[in-house]
Amino acid sequence: MTISNLPESLIATLPGHYYTDPGVFRQEQERIFEAMWFCVARSCELPKPGSFRTVDVGRESVLVTRARDGGIRAHFNVCRHRGARLCTEESGEVKRAFQCPYHAWTYDLEGKLVAAPNLTKMPDVGRTEYGLAPVHVREWLGYVWVCVAEDAPSFDETVIADVEARLGEVDALDRYDVASLEVGRRIVYDVKANWKLIIENFMECYHCATIHPELTEVLPEFADGYAAQYYVGHGAEFGDEVKGFTVDGSEGVDRIPTISEDQDRRYYAITVRPQVFINLVPDHVIFHRMYPVSEDRTIVECDWLYLKEVVASGKDVSRSVELFDRVNRQDFDACERCQPAMSSRLYRQGGVLVPSEHHIGEFHAWVEARLGNGP
Ligand code: FES
Ligand code: FE
Repeated sequence: MTISNLPESLIATLPGHYYTDPGVFRQEQERIFEAMWFCVARSCELPKPGSFRTVDVGRESVLVTRARDGGIRAHFNVCRHRGARLCTEESGEVKRAFQCPYHAWTYDLEGKLVAAPNLTKMPDVGRTEYGLAPVHVREWLGYVWVCVAEDAPSFDETVIADVEARLGEVDALDRYDVASLEVGRRIVYDVKANWKLIIENFMECYHCATIHPELTEVLPEFADGYAAQYYVGHGAEFGDEVKGFTVDGSEGVDRIPTISEDQDRRYYAITVRPQVFINLVPDHVIFHRMYPVSEDRTIVECDWLYLKEVVASGKDVSRSVELFDRVNRQDFDACERCQPAMSSRLYRQGGVLVPSEHHIGEFHAWVEARLGNGP
């Protein structure tokens, strides 16, 4: 079957090489991950001045730090002298400065060059001009987002707009007060699949009846194959017998008090392109960040966020964690099952989307447009 003679019910996916070609992945790094806002850390992972993390954003390494004033800064993790990687640790803490291990150029938490061998003999070297190069940074929902592009796109017109497109209004998300919640559990998944397979999977529920028995028990409407993401502002309703969003439908923990009545007993899902998924349920928020490593490997970090009191009290959250942990494993298994076939000659032209998946076509058009391959 070729793309030109599809019946009306079906639309084409991206061709197979989009999921396997290192050249396409490189383009995506350049035009998507290095061009957009990219979520890199939970703010609490940088607890005090001098705390730092290094994160790969596309092909760049970014050094994220908490500065003296309590704010977050981000810089390219590249020494301005001869380009040594300044920090090689994934995370840690410095007292007041970062010193390059090569010739000891030293930068303060704001990135300013504060010391270097013989620096006093070079009074013409600007301390800011030869300081670390800044990266755009923003905190939202208790997470740190960076953009390594020279001109960052408007946060409102990209990140916030994606939330609005799903929920109809960003207030609906504000009511979960995500920044005030605490990480009750974090699980990191190493998925042997292209990042787009993971997004596509997250956007549809055609697979729910086949691979998510526990989820369809809690959200019976998912058995019909229409994902919450299919409609704007729609939250999938819990089944009548279901007490909470847990693996066996048993009672959850304390409800987030600021959500509205119509958000109670409902599940919402949001994709924030290019690498964040958010799930909202009455008593917790599940926040996924994808880190595309190569064309066929993606690390997914997933946080289960609960009210501070719930985490502090040591209440058992294992049944609610287990539900989406199972869902994640079921989904990632499916993505890993698809990945090898992306290079099959049979998939050269790609596959097809059924009507309940047609909205994924929009994501494909978006990828094509970002890569400059659009119509
Ligand atoms: Fe960093 Fe020389 S490369 S001090
Ligand atoms: Fe799924």
